[in-house]
Amino acid sequence: MSSATHGYIFANWKMYLNQEESVALATSWRAAPRPDGYQLAVFPSALAFTSVAEALAGSSIRVGAQNVYWVDQGGYTGEVSAAMFAAAGAQYALIGHSERRHQFHETNHEVRQKLEAALASGLTPLLCVGETAAERSAGRTWEVIETQLRAAYHNLVWPAKTDLLIAYEPVWAISRGTERWGADCPPGEAEVIHTRISDWLQGIMSGVAPQVLFGGSVRAANLGRYLAEPHLAGVLVGAASTQPDRWSALLANITPRAL
Ligand code: PGA
Repeated sequence: MSSATHGYIFANWKMYLNQEESVALATSWRAAPRPDGYQLAVFPSALAFTSVAEALAGSSIRVGAQNVYWVDQGGYTGEVSAAMFAAAGAQYALIGHSERRHQFHETNHEVRQKLEAALASGLTPLLCVGETAAERSAGRTWEVIETQLRAAYHNLVWPAKTDLLIAYEPVWAISRGTERWGADCPPGEAEVIHTRISDWLQGIMSGVAPQVLFGGSVRAANLGRYLAEPHLAGVLVGAASTQPDRWSALLANITPRAL
């Protein structure tokens, strides 16, 4: 998908659900009405990935990996490779989520290796970028994002048929669960960053149509405001996607988009 009239509603289940809960939620999604014009995808835990992929097989909801390792196979205790996720039916992979960067100290160099491995395995990566509260207060937002973008995409030949997906996820906007929402990102501020990311990528890669999503405490109460932004291609939803009532309320707030 590359037209701006398409949209993405992606759900990052993080480590919120066990296998049984993941399958139950995926099964309920399969049966529920979905908004026209949006690609839905879910990113379950590595443990629940295969069962969720089976529960959604044959539906229009795609599955993705929350994280990948860049070596295909070998002695890497605790890791799951991009190639393994692809073989198990993943279509997407989150790369460089801020929780990976900040809690697991993932570097820009590792993010690059993961991005390349995802592409080599035929996955569509969704690169996550964003600044911390301290970086924002210091006026360093764009500097941080540009560094993350440059490390990921500099001199990378983008495969012609693969969507170029980026999620702007300001760290200060990300929730710690449905009881601890992050701050709302002022719409004007998000829009400036989305446009800048898109322009920057078009400046270093010719013929690409970057699709920029927003993530950070997106829920029914603020979804409409984010989706109203002309340069936003969709949202990456964490906590609000893990509870059936919140998810259906969120989907009910989506105005169908033309395909
Ligand atoms: P959140 O998570 O919606 O719970 O803030 C979004 C994300 O981190 O991808």
